[in-house]
Amino acid sequence: MSNPTESISAAALPEASPDASAPAPLPPALPHVLPQVAPARPAAIVTTGLTKRYGALTALDALNLQLEPGDVFGFIGPNGAGKSTTMKILAGLLQPTGGSAQILGKTVADNGDFVRRNVGYMPDSFGVYEDLKVSEYLEFFASAYHVPRNQRRKVVADVLELTDLKYKQDAFVDSLSRGMQQRLGLARVLVHDPPILLLDEPASGLDPRARIEIRELLKELQRLGKTIMVSSHILSELGEFCNKLGIIERGKLLVVGTIEDLVARARAHSVIHVQIVGDSQAAAALLAEDARVAKVERVNDQLLVTLADPGQHHAFILEKLVAHHIPIHSVAPEQIKLEDVFLRLTKGIVQ
Ligand SMILES: Nc1ncnc2c1ncn2[C@@H]1O[C@H](COP(=O)(O)OP(=O)(O)O)[C@@H](O)[C@H]1O
Ligand SMILES: [Mg+2]
Repeated sequence: MSNPTESISAAALPEASPDASAPAPLPPALPHVLPQVAPARPAAIVTTGLTKRYGALTALDALNLQLEPGDVFGFIGPNGAGKSTTMKILAGLLQPTGGSAQILGKTVADNGDFVRRNVGYMPDSFGVYEDLKVSEYLEFFASAYHVPRNQRRKVVADVLELTDLKYKQDAFVDSLSRGMQQRLGLARVLVHDPPILLLDEPASGLDPRARIEIRELLKELQRLGKTIMVSSHILSELGEFCNKLGIIERGKLLVVGTIEDLVARARAHSVIHVQIVGDSQAAAALLAEDARVAKVERVNDQLLVTLADPGQHHAFILEKLVAHHIPIHSVAPEQIKLEDVFLRLTKGIVQ
C-alpha cells in the first residue's frame, strides 16, 4: 500500500537531506517529532461549537464532543435536551445554525455521500410500513444503500441473524412488537456495514426483557468494533457498557468523559473501608494521628478512613497497621456507583 506520509516523514529526517546548506540536524531526540509527522487516525466524531436554534429556542448550545473509533458513548439527558438534534446533524439530516460536525475527519455538511456510507442512523421513531415483510424491508434499505444486488440476500440474512429476527423474516413489519421493531431498526442501519452508529433511544418504550435484548445487541456491535453514540434519558440503561458518557441538559453538555474520569472527578474525597480482626480502637487511634488521614470514623465493625489527599494511594494504611502488628481483615476503597457519580456531578438534574 502506498503511504505518502512515509515519504514525508523520511524527508523530514535530517539524514535524508543531502543539501549541505541545510540547517544543522536536529538533536537526536527525534522521537518526539515523529508523532507530529505520523498520520493521526481521524476521530470518529467531532463537534466544535455545534449550535442549533429554532427561532428563539437554542436547542443545541455550542456542543464540543470528540469520540474515537471504537468508543461507545452514552448520550444522556432528559426529553428536549438536544440529543436527537445532535444526532440528526451528525447524520447530515439537519443543518446546524453554527459550529461544525465532523465524521472521520470530514465535515458533515460538505460530505453527504461519505457520511451516508459511514454512518448508520437509527431515528427515535420507527415510522409506518404497511404491507412490507421484514426481509423486504431490509432488502429495500440494502438497495437504497447501494448494496450490490447479488449480495443483498446474504447481507439481509446476516443482519437478521445478528439481530435475532430470522424467524420473523416473513412477518409483516407492522405486526412486530416494539422490541422487535427496534431490533429491526438496528438491522436496517447495519445493512451497509457503517463503522459509526447513531442510535436514538433504541431502548425507549421497551419492556425489561426487550431492553436486555437491545443491550446485548449493542454489546455485540461494540465487539464488532463499531463506534456507537447511543442516547437515553435513563442513565442506568447505558452505564454498564459505555466507555464514555455525556450528560446534556437544555442544549448544553454538562459533563463528559470516560467512566473512570467521571468516577475520579466525583470523588470529592476518598474513603477507605478498613476492617480489623478484633478491637479496632488502637487502629483508629493510629490512623487518626497520620497526616495523610483527614478523618477516621468507627461504623459498626468498620473504620471509615477519609484521606487528606484523594489522589493518595491507600497502601500506607496497610503498611502502618502491619508494622504495628494489628491484624487486618480487609482494606478497600469505597465503591462509587455510576448513579452517585452523576448525582454529584449534575446536582441531581438527571434521574
Ligand atoms: N423542528 C423543531 N422545531 C422547533 N423546535 C424543535 C424542533 N425539533 C426540536 N425542537 C426543540 O429542540 C429541543 C431539543 O429537542 P431534541 O433534540 O429532540 O431533544 P431530545 O432528543 O434530547 O429529547 C426541544 O426543546 C425541542 O422541543
Ligand atoms: Mg430525542
